[in-house]
Amino acid sequence: MAEKKLGFATRAIHDGQEPEKLTGAVNVPIFLTSTYQQEAIGKNRGHEYARLTNPTRDALEESLCSLEGGTSAHAFASGMAAITAMLTMMKTGDHIVCSDNVYGGTQRVFDKVLANYGLTFTYVDTSKAENVAAALRPETKLVHIETPTNPMMAITDIRAVADICHAKGVELSVDNTFLSPYLQQPIALGADIVMHSTTKFLNGHSDGLGGVLICTTPEQADRFRFVQKCTGGILSPFESYLLLRGVKTLAVRMRQHDVNGRAVADFLAGHRAVKKVFYPGLKDHPQHELAKRQQSGFGSMISIELGSLEQANEFAKRLRLAFLAESLGGVETLICHPATMTHAAIGAEGRARLGITDGLMRISVGIEDVADIISDLDQALSG
Ligand SMILES: Cc1ncc(COP(=O)(O)O)c(C=O)c1O
Repeated sequence: MAEKKLGFATRAIHDGQEPEKLTGAVNVPIFLTSTYQQEAIGKNRGHEYARLTNPTRDALEESLCSLEGGTSAHAFASGMAAITAMLTMMKTGDHIVCSDNVYGGTQRVFDKVLANYGLTFTYVDTSKAENVAAALRPETKLVHIETPTNPMMAITDIRAVADICHAKGVELSVDNTFLSPYLQQPIALGADIVMHSTTKFLNGHSDGLGGVLICTTPEQADRFRFVQKCTGGILSPFESYLLLRGVKTLAVRMRQHDVNGRAVADFLAGHRAVKKVFYPGLKDHPQHELAKRQQSGFGSMISIELGSLEQANEFAKRLRLAFLAESLGGVETLICHPATMTHAAIGAEGRARLGITDGLMRISVGIEDVADIISDLDQALSG
């Protein structure tokens, strides 16, 4: 009889995390070593040097690989280090198609750093799959999408885009940071690579940066292992430990984030000071049905239009419980101003094209008591 696959929450706690062999410690220790004693020349115990492998990082990579349903995972020092590592698959002359509404730092590294090495980028609204088909060229090697997008919460049909890519021999990578593998499984929908800023929901406690690439082929695994070894932008043992610890509670945290996100979005949709709410869980969201189909929840990322920079600033200054801060995905409610924070780098014109106004605020709803979150938002909105 085939062995039944363990559930998500069980795998988050156990996969990659066998008790330690020497003592039976149930938590993976932080292996603080830069090198490993070798038994003879050419004979080691599976580890040579910590830039290549570290048992704490190995455990984390196995855990994240299991949760995303990939074949290998490769942890980096930040989400940006992971994206940059992914782009080392490209060669001068290659073309990449990217969602037009990605994290501002992604577009910055593409346009201001990697374009200098002869890569070209086309940005399209990938929530319309036909735009991806139209943007592909003979030299296109990768399509990179974020769904939901940051901060406008547009949804891209992963399966439709994967089919378009595969028909032309192009790989699809999905930034799954906003939902985590608990709420969205891009590989099951056809993605070739999943990436995360693990700084966000996977860590969940706003106490460590990190990034990961999860692969589906041995060629990608060889490539990213080689990049880890050559360029060295790997996740440290301590950060790997923090992330493993965070991931153990991913399922319960994401369930609560989802419950709180829906309640806060409903509250905001009925508030007179809020001109528009961007949340895939609301029935008037243009891709609500798609979100229902391809996600197993709507998550807790919400953007709101308040009308002007002054109103956004007044709201931000009045917050008592939620923090005005960059980042997202922590247990605490975090609120950011995309125009001056996450999307400052793309310039006023770029923001105008995407609808990122000076009055837009992005809320990462935490897992505090939802009545307290709503009461704080209410008093901050009502003035
Ligand atoms: C969706 C998304 N991708 C990537 C990144 C970059 O990750 P990091 O800040 O860990 O380098 C971020 C950061 O905010 C993000 O929101």
